[in-house]
Amino acid sequence: MQTLVQNASEILKENDLGTYTVPTHGLYPFQWNWDSCLTALGQAHFNEVRAWREIETLLAHQWEDGMVPHIIFHKEDDGYFPGPEVWATGRDVPTSGITQPAVAGFAIKRLFDRAKDKELAADMARALLPKVFAWHEWFFANRDPQGTGLVAILHPWESGRDNSVDWDDAFERVPTTGVLPFTRRDTQHANPDHRPTQAQYERYIWLVQLFRSLNWDNSKLHDASPFQVVDPGFNGILLRSCMDLADLADALGEIEIAEKSRAQATRGIAAMESLWSDTHGQYLCQDRRQNALIDSPSVGGLIAAFAPIPAHRAKALADRVTAMANKVSYLVPSHDPDAADYDAKRYWRGPAWLIVNYLISDGLKRAGQTDVARRIANSSVELIEKSGFAEYYDPMTGEPCGGTRFTWTAAMVIEFIAQSDAG
Ligand code: DGY
Repeated sequence: MQTLVQNASEILKENDLGTYTVPTHGLYPFQWNWDSCLTALGQAHFNEVRAWREIETLLAHQWEDGMVPHIIFHKEDDGYFPGPEVWATGRDVPTSGITQPAVAGFAIKRLFDRAKDKELAADMARALLPKVFAWHEWFFANRDPQGTGLVAILHPWESGRDNSVDWDDAFERVPTTGVLPFTRRDTQHANPDHRPTQAQYERYIWLVQLFRSLNWDNSKLHDASPFQVVDPGFNGILLRSCMDLADLADALGEIEIAEKSRAQATRGIAAMESLWSDTHGQYLCQDRRQNALIDSPSVGGLIAAFAPIPAHRAKALADRVTAMANKVSYLVPSHDPDAADYDAKRYWRGPAWLIVNYLISDGLKRAGQTDVARRIANSSVELIEKSGFAEYYDPMTGEPCGGTRFTWTAAMVIEFIAQSDAG
């Protein structure tokens, strides 16, 4: 175990550019939003100052309206597409114009709770708390204009689960006419068979061009987007962060933020019931444009376990993970292996991801589903022992896929091992 932790910490250092960490050199040469927040959890085991700095750097690039972008282009690198010139968001330090899963609230609460340097933690948490709260407020104002309690993603990249089967039908409504010619870079760094397809990329870029034509005005993007999906995983992460922010705000004496954050979480959790499917025994995505659930049993519905959902829902999700364990060698596949569109190696259409395992297992543990939580943790460590620190893995064979020497995989291994050491 010590060797694994040692190897993981070397990867964190290798990808550390001083104030932020790249997910992996080559394929992802900038700062990614949820990558950074989860990376900080691993960094904190060695260097708390550096861990807080990771999140501080991300939030220093928050937009004036509260949005925290999914990529910060700290320096030029033409090895990635789409780069800053495609986004054209007009920032001094360029950023993308969409967001990513709001895991920052959870991450700063966890760093704060575990901190050895309490004074630093209090200073940093006090400085970051209003920024994260502003981001949450931005979500509910701009991504839930009808006040349903749940937010929509407007681009598959926002979910972090770029090419999930969940988006296929809604994505059909995204045209490709007028997409400017482009050259992909991702397929030069990773096996093209493990990446999204060219047809998907054309739609990704069409959406970027649409939002750019609206000057990235977030008050307009939601209603203008042909793609509006309510993802239980995305919402589950946001709602957990709202609840954690409420607890953190209480600890810091920030009563107004505490009350508002708790109200956001409570309302959202109640609204999550509308995404529950008895047929699948899990939450499903909702196509907001069609006002209908999407019949796709993906891991998005299991990531919802991360949120403070009712105990009987957590139990049902734990049962679903157990059922999944009978179908694969390594937990947790990003799509049900029995489903028609399952693809064991193609990014988010089947492979297992360590960050997802961490979120699900953390949520199940919190809900008292400790056996299944431990099973996920053990399977994760076994997978890394077998296959190294890849971006994602074939859940049947354990074959490493995508990028190599991957930062958040390393961070999650450190977390899983530290937790098992702590009993
Ligand atoms: C990519 O480029 O593959 C990213 O997932 C988009 O953020």
